[in-house]
Amino acid sequence: MKKNVLITGTSSGVGYESALLFAKNGFKVYASMRNLAKGEALKEQAAADGLDISLIRLDVTELDSIQAAVESIVAADGRIDMLINNAGAGFGKTTEQATIEEVKWVTDVNYLGVVYCCRAVIPFMRKQRAGHIINITSVGGLVGQPFNELYCGAKFAVEGYTESLASYISDPFNIKLSIVEPGGISTEFMKSAIASTASAEGQLASGEYLSIFEKYMSGTQARADKETVQIYQTGAEVAQVILEVAQQEEPPLRVRTSAWAEALCHLKTAADPDGTKLVNQVKSSFLS
Ligand SMILES: NC(=O)c1ccc[n+]([C@@H]2O[C@H](COP(=O)([O-])OP(=O)(O)OC[C@H]3O[C@@H](n4cnc5c(N)ncnc54)[C@H](OP(=O)(O)O)[C@@H]3O)[C@@H](O)[C@H]2O)c1
Repeated sequence: MKKNVLITGTSSGVGYESALLFAKNGFKVYASMRNLAKGEALKEQAAADGLDISLIRLDVTELDSIQAAVESIVAADGRIDMLINNAGAGFGKTTEQATIEEVKWVTDVNYLGVVYCCRAVIPFMRKQRAGHIINITSVGGLVGQPFNELYCGAKFAVEGYTESLASYISDPFNIKLSIVEPGGISTEFMKSAIASTASAEGQLASGEYLSIFEKYMSGTQARADKETVQIYQTGAEVAQVILEVAQQEEPPLRVRTSAWAEALCHLKTAADPDGTKLVNQVKSSFLS
């Protein structure tokens, strides 16, 4: 029997590429998006390639839409094998500049949406005694970066959340947890990050952060020029890494998706690159 997978945020980028790649590799794919009107390209590609992809509405900030999507999958297939929490949005404003609504939004989309989706699938996976949840974070989930604290904070939260879940639901219930940590990806994501950064720049013009911000912006290109490894990946390249994680019997807790991402996180990850030692240590400290 084909494994099924629910993927969030498949209207573009990594989610779109993952939907196609997983279907090509034998998964029954439930490609979710908040606005189904954005699903035409995926629908056409799936039809052209003869792929088993069903589009489904799911907004990660709307509990009802999450519950309805998960229940419809379980009603159709009797189970849910895999969840890929991919939906996310870039954000670049300082803590002082962002409105409270923006702070809540960036946290909702990048962190709470992951919690809500996990909360919806875990009861089914626990009953099945099988399942795999893959959360897409970022190098920003391991390394805090300038003018990016609200996004990085939300991604750090997903890292801690996933690590905690892995410590006690993997062994007894056979629910695997993995975190995929990309560096830069050339996708729509950049547009939302750039839009918020650009509006931040306007507001910074008279403020005390301006000279630091200018250094950051001019340094970004200089740093990119100096790199010996490629910073940006395509959505398809990142999807390939997610597929490799999904296909493993014993998947890693953590994986970076490129040499550049690995190098940036090295000080944090060198002692335990895939997170296995840490999970084992937590289990023996708290649960033995
Ligand atoms: N691009 C990068 O440089 C980069 C780097 C590291 C990690 N990441 C992570 O990689 C993941 C995929 O991003 P991407 O680069 O593929 O960006 P993307 O092309 O912008 O895709 C993001 C997806 O999330 C969806 N989304 C946003 N808000 C949503 C909501 N409330 N409910 C459901 N879906 C929602 C978007 O849908 P709409 O079309 O409706 O907005 C879109 O389908 C994200 O978790 C991101 O944080 C990206």
